[in-house]
Amino acid sequence: METTLIILKPDAVQRGLMGRIISRFEDKGIQVVGAKFMQISSELAATHYASHKGKPFYDGLVGFMTSSPVLVLALRGVGSIAICRKMMGATFGSNADPGTIRGDFGVSNSFNLIHGSDSPEAAAHELKLFFGEGEVLDWDRAGEGWIYDLSGGDPE
Ligand code: RTP
Ligand code: MG
Repeated sequence: METTLIILKPDAVQRGLMGRIISRFEDKGIQVVGAKFMQISSELAATHYASHKGKPFYDGLVGFMTSSPVLVLALRGVGSIAICRKMMGATFGSNADPGTIRGDFGVSNSFNLIHGSDSPEAAAHELKLFFGEGEVLDWDRAGEGWIYDLSGGDPE
């Protein structure tokens, strides 16, 4: 099982799309194991997007991410990092495929609705940035045996 860090960005919150985006992940069978509604500080945004520091879009990105509340999620499942990235779609709304979150809900390149960790290393780092001890919960889903084939021991 993998856990990934997802952020529903300020545009998703302001446009009232939180429920519809979370539903896509729940419908897929991804488990919500953490959720936090918060306003990101400039310091936290700078740490989170440190790899983009110096790029032309960096200041605008930090300004956008701190402009209004976001919903931060920890999502769990087998291969959840890659699955969530695929469901998000390409970075820019203008060329994200239909059927993806960015492709279906937006047209903007800067306001692209959602962030998702792009590797296991990034997920581990980002989960620690946004969630404290005990804020990501290990809980048993009642229907787990119908989401995954558990007959072999490991979820398939
Ligand atoms: P994210 O980190 O937010 O999940 O998005 P991503 O991996 O698809 O894209 P990334 O390359 O990491 O870029 C981070 C965010 O910066 C903004 N961006 N603007 N104007 C530009 O050329 C540009 N490039 C990136 C986007 O908001 C992107 O999500
Ligand atoms: Mg990224």
